[in-house]
Amino acid sequence: MGDSPYLVSRLQGFGTTIFAEMSALAVATGSINLGQGFPDEDGPPEVMDAAVAAIRAGHNQYPPGIGIPELRHAIVAHQSKWYSLDYDADTEVLVTAGATEAIAAALLALCEPGDEVVTFEPYYDSYAACIAMAGAHRRVVQLRTPDWTFDAEALERAITPRTRVLLLNSPHNPTGKVFDVAELELIAQLCVEHDLLAITDEVYEHLVFDGKHVPLATMPGMRDRTVTISSGGKTFSCTGWKVGWLCAVPELVDAVKTVKQFLTYVNAGPFQYAIAVGLGLPGSTLRRLAGALEEKRDRLSAGLAAAGLTVLPSAGTYFVSTDIRSLGESDGMAFCRTLPERCGVVAVPSIAFYDDDDAGRPLVRFACCKRLEVIDDAAARLRGLAR
Ligand SMILES: Cc1ncc(COP(=O)(O)O)c(C=O)c1O
Repeated sequence: MGDSPYLVSRLQGFGTTIFAEMSALAVATGSINLGQGFPDEDGPPEVMDAAVAAIRAGHNQYPPGIGIPELRHAIVAHQSKWYSLDYDADTEVLVTAGATEAIAAALLALCEPGDEVVTFEPYYDSYAACIAMAGAHRRVVQLRTPDWTFDAEALERAITPRTRVLLLNSPHNPTGKVFDVAELELIAQLCVEHDLLAITDEVYEHLVFDGKHVPLATMPGMRDRTVTISSGGKTFSCTGWKVGWLCAVPELVDAVKTVKQFLTYVNAGPFQYAIAVGLGLPGSTLRRLAGALEEKRDRLSAGLAAAGLTVLPSAGTYFVSTDIRSLGESDGMAFCRTLPERCGVVAVPSIAFYDDDDAGRPLVRFACCKRLEVIDDAAARLRGLAR
């Protein structure tokens, strides 16, 4: 495949290939799958009921290209309520097929071939693929273990005259890092100084346990140069619905919309109504959802530590990362390939999220977004590793 003249040769090897291998292993061995991040329980009943009602009400044809007004207004109200960010629902919001399409369309729309995109590694695997599809080049700044900090000078050095976009994911997959205000201020300052656009992926915005999610767009000088992306899948435990969105100034929304209309055109008609209901739920409901996930993060982290793994801090998201060197192992890929057979659990080797193989090799990511009894079962199985 590496010799293919087609784009596939440049996209092979990115994370998705490894996830597919691990998910297949989970099925083949009947293991507990803590690899891919999807919940095993439904989200709030109000949101589920709204989807059923929307289908029954006949909202089953193409929705408007920019998304149904109910959802666009709900997104505007959400950004204003949580972050005091004001957007116009008709010109500054675009509904997309999950955050995945928003990320792809934004990179395709805003990058010219040869441009550079700065992002942090480890990185969510679609970033590398989408940057490649845009003909752009990625330059990565490493989040260092054990505390996921980064070197400010390394970030500054990564920015060159070819840099067009800074792509930020916070709360961050796979690390669970939530960028703090001082870090965001530094990133914002560099974006302004070098006249960069920012694309932010905030799909875990409501799944924060330690610290607070602050959108980059709230930093001085950033609102008008930032495309803020999120989606309903993680917050409302409905990853299969693929309702995402972005907020930005009209000319950036127009640019992304031009690409989006030739990718999916529109999607998820009835589910857009349901996510609009979800975004309008009281803050207490969203905090309860985060609280339930925090308990799972804690339970899984304790289980992983009891199994002899070094648990790295996760302040949010669906994930907990570990360093396997405390078990006397060093190759996360080999570890994950044999884990199903050794103890009936599937995880993901973090090397899939790294350019720097040496940094990623000893790290393994586990998903905590599963029922407590599933986590307990996985923890009991993993205890065999420590013996
Ligand atoms: C950081 C990050 N961004 C985007 C996505 C995809 O979001 P969606 O399902 O809304 O396309 C994921 C899903 O795992 C993710 O972890």
